[in-house]
Amino acid sequence: KINPMQDNHGRAHNYLRISITEHCNLRCTYCMPAEGIALTPRAHLMTAEEIVTIAKTFVKLGVNKIRLTGGEPLVRKDAKNIIEQLGKLGVELTLTTNGILVHEFINTFKEAGITTLNVSIDSLKKDKFNQITRRNYFEKLIENLDLLESNNFKVKLNVVVIKGFNDNEIIDFIEMTKDRNIQIRFIEFMPFDGNQWNKEKLVSYAEILSQANAFYTEQKVERTQDKPNDTSKNHKIDGYQGSFSVISSVTNPFCSTCNRIRLTADGKLKNCLFSNAETSLLDTLRAGDSIEPLIFQNIKSKFAMRGGMDDDTKFQNPLLFSQNRSMIKIGG
Ligand code: GTP
Ligand code: 5AD
Ligand code: SF4
Repeated sequence: KINPMQDNHGRAHNYLRISITEHCNLRCTYCMPAEGIALTPRAHLMTAEEIVTIAKTFVKLGVNKIRLTGGEPLVRKDAKNIIEQLGKLGVELTLTTNGILVHEFINTFKEAGITTLNVSIDSLKKDKFNQITRRNYFEKLIENLDLLESNNFKVKLNVVVIKGFNDNEIIDFIEMTKDRNIQIRFIEFMPFDGNQWNKEKLVSYAEILSQANAFYTEQKVERTQDKPNDTSKNHKIDGYQGSFSVISSVTNPFCSTCNRIRLTADGKLKNCLFSNAETSLLDTLRAGDSIEPLIFQNIKSKFAMRGGMDDDTKFQNPLLFSQNRSMIKIGG
């Protein structure tokens, strides 16, 4: 029997990322333009009930992992309610967060069965952290990372690496994994609307590895097993408790194993980070019609790679990526 969640390139989609808000309590330069973004009017955003209804449809169709994103998911007023309800769906539930508010959610996470969290941190230096986030929450984040660890959550730290900005902290981040069972994930800087991407700011997977190899001359830098559908290429310093990896969407895309679909806060299905082929599930849900045919259609239209920006001349064409949303409105 043909799986309707499979696309024309043989990829079955069982991982749904839901953005629950366009708001954020930080202003990261690589995520949104300095002037801010035009927010979607509230009436066009999914209510908690609509999120749960749509999520249930996806679970029925075979989704077995849901990740909440944003903006910052935890700034949404009814985030607890959403997490509680999604926790009852019996699928793996997790979040990508900037960590600033996690102290208010520890019990909610536990009750919803959340065991792992992806937390963004782009610098271990207070001044730099505040510069890139344009806000002043460094200490709070460090405190909350300890809190998550002491509550036994598995934490992956997301670090977007930008040339000349934080690429001198790669080793410091890897050193954090010496005595702590955390995973550091270095992310190649990706182009989105309004984030001033250019190739000169990119620090590639190869460069990150060569920094590690140059520094760790006594210990081995091991290439360890990736999980199926992982975004990251995993590594470990011999003898260290934690691990580090690289998410190389620019230089080594992992599209051939992509199992992800995205639901934006305004209820649109986006089959790829880089695709503009969005289908409004919310409008159809509100009209009282079935959203299933739309889901299947949207998945079938998915490009093999990066929303059709397969070669680098396309991918690096500012005109093409400026037609996409900015990251804050996609959710990563
Ligand atoms: P896991 O579910 O733990 O594998 O996390 P994740 O890597 O999918 O999610 P996270 O939200 O932590 O994203 C980390 C980085 O990976 C961000 O920069 C995302 O934009 C990027 N990323 C996540 N999913 C995809 C994807 O489907 N394609 C590409 N190209 N990048 C992705
Ligand atoms: N390139 C790569 N990663 C990005 N993120 C946000 N913007 C970009 C970008 N331009 C990351 C955030 C967060 C995750 C959801 O996406 O750091 O960890
Ligand atoms: Fe999937 Fe698109 Fe990311 Fe490739 S770029 S892995 S197709 S979401």
